[in-house]
Amino acid sequence: MPLNQGFVLASRPQGEARVDNFRYFEKETPPVGPGQVLVRNLWLSLDPYMRGRMDESKSYAASQKLDDVMIGGTAGEVVASENPEFKPGDKVVCVNGGWQTYFLSDGKGVNKVDASRAPLQAFVGPLGMPGVTAWYGLNKIIKPKAGQTVVVSAATGAVGTVVGQLAKAHGARAVGIAGGPEKCAFAVKELGYDACVDHKAVDFAEQFKKATPNGVDGVFENVGGLPFKLASHRLNDFARIAVCGLIASYEGAEKSSLDDLRILLVKRALIEGFIVSDHIDIWGQALRELIDLAASGKLKWRESVVDGVKAAPAAFLGMLKGANFGKQLVKLS
Ligand SMILES: NC(=O)c1ccc[n+]([C@@H]2O[C@H](COP(=O)([O-])OP(=O)(O)OC[C@H]3O[C@@H](n4cnc5c(N)ncnc54)[C@H](OP(=O)(O)O)[C@@H]3O)[C@@H](O)[C@H]2O)c1
Repeated sequence: MPLNQGFVLASRPQGEARVDNFRYFEKETPPVGPGQVLVRNLWLSLDPYMRGRMDESKSYAASQKLDDVMIGGTAGEVVASENPEFKPGDKVVCVNGGWQTYFLSDGKGVNKVDASRAPLQAFVGPLGMPGVTAWYGLNKIIKPKAGQTVVVSAATGAVGTVVGQLAKAHGARAVGIAGGPEKCAFAVKELGYDACVDHKAVDFAEQFKKATPNGVDGVFENVGGLPFKLASHRLNDFARIAVCGLIASYEGAEKSSLDDLRILLVKRALIEGFIVSDHIDIWGQALRELIDLAASGKLKWRESVVDGVKAAPAAFLGMLKGANFGKQLVKLS
């Protein structure tokens, strides 16, 4: 049987996560039993939610157990199967294939994908969970109308990349917030944002005001902290805020809050948090639309790729600080 290489969670972070919170392992893959399928993971998706799972504190999902393989979505190929749903050569995505090179499963959470329509790794990025997240928050919470202004933080990341392009397709003015001039230039030139403001610039607040001359009708919040605060002070009447993520506070450094609930009252604004896995009913439609857009060349994205499973911990920690430029992936093959 092939050698499986990967990482378990070795300890819980005290403050910021560190590479030594993960422990590398190598072990032989067990034989494939009745009903089981063995997947060779070719791509590992690194996602911010993993940071929350490393903590013991209660969240919307159970925390990751110590000494278990680190949780993670993967894309790969079936190499052996005793499950009638799968055959060797099938391209699949695994909801939790984990930070490892081989995944032995009973088939639950393993879904076949048509890799002739887009590169396999896109099915854990814009054509997977992050893309569906963007689709849900924009179409079901923000519901932009033509001419309205939608603000998107972490604008060039896995989720933000898709939000901006979907907002443009609705005829909205899309204003991104991203870290650094290179990301901001990419947001405007490649992703079609009308403007993108650098949250690291000394005059961030000033620039943000200039980029939203008609106020803000929709906020797709991925970050929290100062970007959220600025957007909440520019709301128009009946604005909608989709709270998708608060990455600025995942390591405990920064708290996000509305300065004053009165903002919501006087603007008759809506604020709604959501978790994409609660909305399984829309995944089929969202994925069909996103895959069609990608296959016709109308959806663009960028990837940050590191090579080999051993690179996963450092790449993950880097992503939490904005070192990624686009969807963060580990190429495992
Ligand atoms: N609700 C859900 O179901 C759901 C599902 C998926 C993802 N999410 C959330 O969506 C957000 C984006 O996820 P993603 O997978 O697309 O990640 P991503 O945007 O590809 O990567 C994270 C980005 O966050 C930005 N960032 C990190 N720390 C920051 C800080 N202190 N201040 C400002 N920006 C910071 C960085 O971009 P810059 O360099 O541009 O600042 C970094 O590149 C996360 O909050 C995640 O938890 C939620």
